[in-house]
Amino acid sequence: MRRVYLDNNATTCLDPEVLDHMLPYMRESYGNPSSLHWLGDEAAAAMTLARKELASVLRCYPSELFFTSGGTEADNMAIIGCMKASARKGRVVTTAVEHSAVLDVCHALHDEGHPLTVLPVDEGGLVDPEELQKAMGDDVVLVSIMAANNVVGTIQPLQELIDISHAHGALFHTDAVQGFCRMPLDLRTLKADLLSVSAHKIHGPKGVGALFIREGTPVAPLTFGGGQEGGMRPSTENVPGIVGLGKAALAADARMRDADGRMALLRDRLIDELLTMDGVHLNGHRSPRLANNAHFRIDAVNGTELVLKLSDLGIAASTASACSASSPSPSHVLTAMGLTWNQAESSLRLGLSHHTTEADVDYVLEMLPTVISNLREGKRFNATTA
Ligand SMILES: Cc1ncc(COP(=O)(O)O)c(C=O)c1O
Repeated sequence: MRRVYLDNNATTCLDPEVLDHMLPYMRESYGNPSSLHWLGDEAAAAMTLARKELASVLRCYPSELFFTSGGTEADNMAIIGCMKASARKGRVVTTAVEHSAVLDVCHALHDEGHPLTVLPVDEGGLVDPEELQKAMGDDVVLVSIMAANNVVGTIQPLQELIDISHAHGALFHTDAVQGFCRMPLDLRTLKADLLSVSAHKIHGPKGVGALFIREGTPVAPLTFGGGQEGGMRPSTENVPGIVGLGKAALAADARMRDADGRMALLRDRLIDELLTMDGVHLNGHRSPRLANNAHFRIDAVNGTELVLKLSDLGIAASTASACSASSPSPSHVLTAMGLTWNQAESSLRLGLSHHTTEADVDYVLEMLPTVISNLREGKRFNATTA
């Protein structure tokens, strides 16, 4: 059976060249980067190089990057760290469509007495800068708004939102886990104070990410120990993962323009052809949207059932985010965009990568209409009758 992987907003495959760079740091160069001997030096040198590689992609100073265990930890470090560093019980502003790695942290801070404003979004998941403007006040310490959405691929007007936040003296954090290497993020011109990335969304390894903290930004550490990462994130470093993050970022950055153009064409084919079917609607604005995301609402079809049927046919897709897949409630992103519970449950996310081919899209477009009509008619079917 053909296998088509279209869940690249959940995670991506580890590129073989990235793995090749990582393997020596699991086998022969396994030293602790803090050790004084030659094996430690090898590991420390690999980390220094990886930090420079990531800095060259984000256009920041290597000293402004702190390696973490992934996007979730980077988001937590940014948000809790800024609030801890501030002398007052200041307010946090975020949006209703953030990943739970941001939203749940903001709610936890709220439980501890920090006022919280959660901005609404329009029907496409976009934040209106006017809404941020209205919400701002001198009590806001931090604004946290994602660069691009993990469910519907909406790209936010970041610089405008940053300017508004800074005009009110607030810091700005962006969760760029989905946007990193899928949209231009140049920290020389994009004036975010903090920015989170994760390797496994860009064909790097799982369990490693980084937080950018602009020089001079007050952030308190959340964990204490051996003083690694300038005391911001103590623990013996995940050297193979960090090496993988650096190489994956370089590779993803180099191919971004070409890969995005090609992915956008395939994505548009999926959107154009699926929208010709009765009762199929696009979730999120057509533009601005990540080149690798197509998200649909399909009337009278349960998204989970659809994903399971597609899986039987070798097609890996999802309804919304991987983190919400086991939750009984529909995606908070879709309900924040105004979808009813039922509509939100009737959703399908197709996430492309630079490995996605025309033949993959042909296969999905060949299978999907029959699967949808069979589900609507309540027909039992197996992979061969789809
Ligand atoms: C927007 C966004 N933020 C944060 C995360 C969490 O990243 P990680 O899996 O590296 O902890 C994800 C992963 O799904 C994401 O899509």
